[in-house]
Amino acid sequence: MAAPTDTPTPVSLPANAVELRGLTKIYQPTGKAGPKHALKGIDLAIPRGSLFGLLGPNGAGKSTMINILAGLVNKTGGTASIWGHEVSERPRRARASIGVVPQELNMDPFFTPREMLELQAGLYGVPKKERRTEELLDAVGLSDKADAHARSLSGGMKRRLMVAKAMVHTPPVLILDEPTAGVDVELRRQLWDYVRTLNKSGTTVLLTTHYLQEAEELCDTIAIINHGQVVACEPKTTLLRRVDNKALCLTLERDLSAAPSSLEGYTVELPEPRRMVVRYQPSRQRAGAILSALAASGIGIIDVTTEESDLEDIFLQLTGGAHGNTGVIHAA
Ligand SMILES: Nc1ncnc2c1ncn2[C@@H]1O[C@H](COP(=O)(O)OP(=O)(O)OP(=O)(O)O)[C@@H](O)[C@H]1O
Ligand SMILES: [Mg+2]
Repeated sequence: MAAPTDTPTPVSLPANAVELRGLTKIYQPTGKAGPKHALKGIDLAIPRGSLFGLLGPNGAGKSTMINILAGLVNKTGGTASIWGHEVSERPRRARASIGVVPQELNMDPFFTPREMLELQAGLYGVPKKERRTEELLDAVGLSDKADAHARSLSGGMKRRLMVAKAMVHTPPVLILDEPTAGVDVELRRQLWDYVRTLNKSGTTVLLTTHYLQEAEELCDTIAIINHGQVVACEPKTTLLRRVDNKALCLTLERDLSAAPSSLEGYTVELPEPRRMVVRYQPSRQRAGAILSALAASGIGIIDVTTEESDLEDIFLQLTGGAHGNTGVIHAA
């Protein structure tokens, strides 16, 4: 897989590739709909070099945020800087610093992938001898489709072509809005590999996704937004530690009125005399140790099941999907 080698190096590299301060967006009323407060004062810093995931339910404001960065939507208030350039103060520099793959794919069906990349490079003023058309086609696995009409490409191929298109000017920041929507499992993995390769070679990546597994596998930092507000922003490991919680549900051979002392250190519940729920943290405790402790106390077990929480639970909890909770979590 190819990676950019000629990322322009500013005199001093910014600590944050993208920085949003009090960013607001109110869409003006359209038809019968009143004004829409899509972003309500977003503060977010995306460190240079990170692979940053932005999660949120439909309508949370993810695309609005990305479109403001891309220069496609005007912000109402606050600041948004890319590579140190504020989007409304230095729009050309800001735009030159990012490549954006929008959520809605729009491409001229009569151009071929090769033509499209050449055209895009021309738009960005990349001199002919510095273009990387073949390298990019190869990187996204489209060399054999280089001269096919875009309309003959599958949905997943089109999305990969859009990634290549976003990279023609070798921007230091790549922004992907739902990069793998509609992409099959194998090609999704291929796209992830490419994104990882770009990131390893120094490109800061910001992506939105509805696939929590994607965020879990790919991103080093995750922000969750809901109703135009940031409700969590933390390193992935911190966020996942929050859900480092599993339960062992046991059916016992005999009635118990209290938790055995051998299970000290665990959270034990006895919902019924012959049922026991033991909560533990898989990162530092093992189910086997719980079972051994019970055996040592002479407690026979008839049946065992487990329950676990994951990123989905925390996502639902924070976005109100499960319990109507709108709690806010800040980075530690
Ligand atoms: N051009 C527009 N005019 C008016 N309202 C808009 C416009 N674009 C978006 N909105 C509204 O702003 C809110 C945020 O939309 P946005 O597209 O940013 O959400 P999103 O997080 O990207 O959602 P999804 O996951 O569905 O892509 C929504 O309520 C949406 O209806
Ligand atoms: Mg969107």
